[in-house]
Amino acid sequence: MAIRSLLQLCLLSPLISVANAKPIIGKRGNFSDTQKLADPTYGPVPGEDPIFSTYYGVEAPFPGNLRDAILPTKAGPPGKDDVVWQNLLSAEWVIFDFYQQAVEAFNETAFIKAGMPNTTYKRIQEIRNNEAGHLRIFQNQISPTSVKPGACEHQFPFYDPISFLALVTVLEISSMAFLTGLVQDAKLPSSQAAMLAIAETEARHEVWSLIEIWKTNPFGGPSDTVFPYANQILDTTNGFIVPGSCPPENPEYPSPRQKLPALSAAKNTTSLTPGSNIGLNFTDPTNQPKFDNDKQYYAVFFHGIANVSVPIDTSCWPAQEIRVTIPEKFETKGVIVAVVADAPGAPTKENVVAGPGVILEQPSALATKLL
Ligand SMILES: *[C@@H]1O[C@H](CO)[C@@H](O)[C@H](O)[C@H]1NC(C)=O
Ligand SMILES: *[C@@H]1O[C@H](CO)[C@@H](O)[C@H](O)[C@H]1NC(C)=O
Ligand SMILES: *[C@@H]1O[C@H](CO)[C@@H](O)[C@H](O)[C@H]1NC(C)=O
Ligand SMILES: *[C@@H]1O[C@H](CO)[C@@H](O)[C@H](O)[C@H]1NC(C)=O
Ligand SMILES: *[C@@H]1O[C@H](CO)[C@@H](O)[C@H](O)[C@H]1NC(C)=O
Ligand SMILES: *[C@@H]1O[C@H](CO)[C@@H](O)[C@H](O)[C@H]1NC(C)=O
Repeated sequence: MAIRSLLQLCLLSPLISVANAKPIIGKRGNFSDTQKLADPTYGPVPGEDPIFSTYYGVEAPFPGNLRDAILPTKAGPPGKDDVVWQNLLSAEWVIFDFYQQAVEAFNETAFIKAGMPNTTYKRIQEIRNNEAGHLRIFQNQISPTSVKPGACEHQFPFYDPISFLALVTVLEISSMAFLTGLVQDAKLPSSQAAMLAIAETEARHEVWSLIEIWKTNPFGGPSDTVFPYANQILDTTNGFIVPGSCPPENPEYPSPRQKLPALSAAKNTTSLTPGSNIGLNFTDPTNQPKFDNDKQYYAVFFHGIANVSVPIDTSCWPAQEIRVTIPEKFETKGVIVAVVADAPGAPTKENVVAGPGVILEQPSALATKLL
């Protein structure tokens, strides 16, 4: 919900985004250079080269500067987890560009003027570098028989350092949640271990933002949120992709794609903490859910490793908005992921009929701000 709401906020804003005022960095790169990336030994190695940690330049670090799709170099069947890694690489281009655009739009002074610690710009550059390392790691996980997706052009709803930092907190915790789902799609234990290690890196980014930026207690309770349908979260990031801007060689993103109706809290919502009664909004007028009159639908809320289903009344929709109470028993910590489903617990991805919406609980002040 927060991501969508920020998107709405941006669309309503009369301000021209600092980031959007700049040319988007998604110019197609040099194809002959990009194809060299098919060789996993080409260029700096993540975990060995400081470019993925302590590079403080403005220009995109390797391989973020080589944006074309990398074509297969061998014929044959795809690797066991190629589709999962392709989904993750496409998502990583979104996240990498998010940080790269901020590095280009802001500088050290901008964050200090916004009241943030004088190390903020450096940390953002370091996170950007980590994300560049993820690009390279994911490229190398895809076998030579499959295409390695290139970058699309992206636009993000931030217009100053604070709105950018708010989005950092939402996107990092969303990454942590979708990786708990993606790891269930991977077949090889080595893929699963690599994804866990990536989720841990995103958790460090999240914890940095909670301590240093929002000055809050960083602990999120005994378990972060498991959400099994990773591609549904990835699909919501299509809102950041400039339509028609992806390299033609890229596979569909995410694959498979359900194109579910987007879910958000109604605009007049004042709180998203557990126990709040909220109105549901299906924000895309061209993609609305269809409710069967004889069926019972549920809002299913995922938090920690559990989920709670709350029956909803869809009989008068769309004349009357659908209202639901966020389960009061959840701790006001971490994140809640909500979907609308046609069965309690949304036992399969096909049971989900709208969403997901990502509800940030921590810091709670930010959750309200993002409405
Ligand atoms: C692409 O890179 C290659 C090798 O670095 C260079 O020879 C070529 O001129 C470049 N092409 C363009 C269009 O920049
Ligand atoms: C940051 O950007 C502002 C405005 O563009 C500029 O005035 C300032 O000198 C820059 N500061 C640094 C440290 O580069
Ligand atoms: C950055 O802030 C810290 C703590 O507020 C301060 O001790 C340090 O001198 C500052 N560094 C610079 C370069 O301004
Ligand atoms: C639902 O979202 C749309 C699109 O952002 C917006 O125009 C509309 O006002 C919202 N409706 C409510 C009740 O929040
Ligand atoms: C939001 O609007 C709905 C009707 O559109 C109304 O039923 C609800 O009470 C409102 N909520 C708040 C908090 O104003
Ligand atoms: C939600 O919880 C129920 C009951 O614990 C469980 O059976 C169901 O599989 C869970 N749903 C998902 C999508 O994990």
